[in-house]
Amino acid sequence: MIITIDGPSSSGKSTLAKLISDHFSIIHIDSGSIYRTITHLAIENKLIIDKEVQLEKLIKCLNNNIITFKRNDTNKFQICVNNEFVESKIRTTIISNNVSTVATIKEIRNYVLKLQREIAVNKSIVMDGRDIGSVVFPNAEYKFYLCASLKNRSKRRWKELKDDEKNITITTVESDLENRDIIDSEREHSPLIIPENAIVINSDDLSISQVFKKILHFIK
Ligand code: DC
Repeated sequence: MIITIDGPSSSGKSTLAKLISDHFSIIHIDSGSIYRTITHLAIENKLIIDKEVQLEKLIKCLNNNIITFKRNDTNKFQICVNNEFVESKIRTTIISNNVSTVATIKEIRNYVLKLQREIAVNKSIVMDGRDIGSVVFPNAEYKFYLCASLKNRSKRRWKELKDDEKNITITTVESDLENRDIIDSEREHSPLIIPENAIVINSDDLSISQVFKKILHFIK
């Protein structure tokens, strides 16, 4: 069984995917973490200067480092570079502000697409992202598209960031999210869209558990 959840940044996709993964005992893959890890490698190796990506060098870097998912202490599938977990390094503002640019590049998307499909071979999986139901698994059994207003998403994201990034304001978070929304939905290759046959859920007036109940109602 493949379940896809797409939607804009901070719409609650990953939280829901985790609940679905626990409920059905299936693997959860946060596909944004793959783009974030590639961006982390690019920044670490100084391959992004003023949002210009040195693509050839980045591809070489991806060929020299192995990106995989493995179970962590709490039994969740999390992303690794050369077998080391990188989760704690990929949620920073600097990565968030560069990841959408990296994700516009066709060669990078093709690399990620191959990885996403390899992970799912012979497995039941819930994967969240931007193009999962439209491009990665267009024939998935269940497809959801989660949306919420920019204001609510910004509040949610700010709460996640404020302990680690003391100076961050909601206004900054809101403008960063708006920028990412524009890049993600207007890019040429696999932009964020509502996938064909996807069930659309607006979470503005719903708690996570209410959205989860709604989703369970559709999954047989
Ligand atoms: O879900 P997230 O905010 O962690 O995703 C980070 C970025 O990765 C997002 O701005 C766009 C990109 N992305 C994508 O283009 N396609 C996906 N399937 C998942 C993420």
